[in-house]
Amino acid sequence: MEFEARIQALLAQAQAAPLATQAELEDYKRRFTGKKGAIAELFATLKEVPADQKAALGQALNHLKTQAEARYAEAEALLKAQQPLADQPADLTLPGTLRHTGGRHPLRRVERQIVGIFQRIGFSVADGPEVEDDWHNFGALNFPPEHPARDMQDTFFVTEDKSWLLRTHTSTVQIRAMEAQQPPLRLLMPGRVYRNEAISARAHCFFHQIEGLVVDEGISFADMKQTLTYFVTQLFGPGVQTRLRPSYFPFTEISAEMDVSCRVCGGAGCTVCKHSGWVEILGCGMVDPQVLRNVGLDPERYSGFAFGMGVERCAQLLYRVPDLRLYSQNDLRFLQQFDQLSVSG
Ligand code: PHE
Repeated sequence: MEFEARIQALLAQAQAAPLATQAELEDYKRRFTGKKGAIAELFATLKEVPADQKAALGQALNHLKTQAEARYAEAEALLKAQQPLADQPADLTLPGTLRHTGGRHPLRRVERQIVGIFQRIGFSVADGPEVEDDWHNFGALNFPPEHPARDMQDTFFVTEDKSWLLRTHTSTVQIRAMEAQQPPLRLLMPGRVYRNEAISARAHCFFHQIEGLVVDEGISFADMKQTLTYFVTQLFGPGVQTRLRPSYFPFTEISAEMDVSCRVCGGAGCTVCKHSGWVEILGCGMVDPQVLRNVGLDPERYSGFAFGMGVERCAQLLYRVPDLRLYSQNDLRFLQQFDQLSVSG
């Protein structure tokens, strides 16, 4: 048969040959694409064709070869995909099946972020127990027995005689730190606190606080304002507005509350900021001289400031979570939304 006719005949055969089983694949290779197959054989005889036809015939032969090989590869892939997994040799280069490994809880993320911001300006972290005595939670902080200020922090008592309780704020760690260390102090005190409150979207019987304390010679209100403005700008970005409002805490004098412009509505007014454009973010003030005396420090020599904030409130503003019960319900649909977020600090 003439060379070109043989190419055409082979092309037709290669296209028609069955390729559905392993045996058919092997047969195809032997007949067409293999080392001793018909295509290789034709290549070997190409040198015998007249010189002026060589280029055209060579091209036709190459076309046949690519067509046949492509058909083979396609059928091979198809067959492999149909094979039960167990029959296939394991491909150790494939990426493994990813398991969900869990992520950091949103409150923990925010806590780490806040702690990181203060660590960068020289604060270190202090810790204290959640079960406290009356002195560290109230007495040393200027809440005398029966004082109405205690009503703001209704407590869970652990003993009948009310001498042990679940701490209502992390200010307890202020006292413990000042009892244990001499100034200068620059401390950050994160932790869980408890209050006897009805559970709703806005209140829970436990929440998380971060408190700060600075005590040294010559610490002023200006130091506090500067530190807190730096913090708020780091957490919420340079566009945030702040204001200080006079307030009352038994253990600070003078006392204030810091508000930030509402991130949810940008100050225009919404339910989060109760249509005021401002959201309270923390309580603060100059450490009361009596508190310094209570821990044996001389208020003529030392002064300081303290501040305390709720982690839930910061998280609500950062992530716009409308109901703080979500943080403790362990619903993975809620929690997994935070897994991919990156957190600095
Ligand atoms: N401990 C206060 C509270 O829980 C917050 C606070 C801390 C206020 C430090 C002033 C200074 O309400």
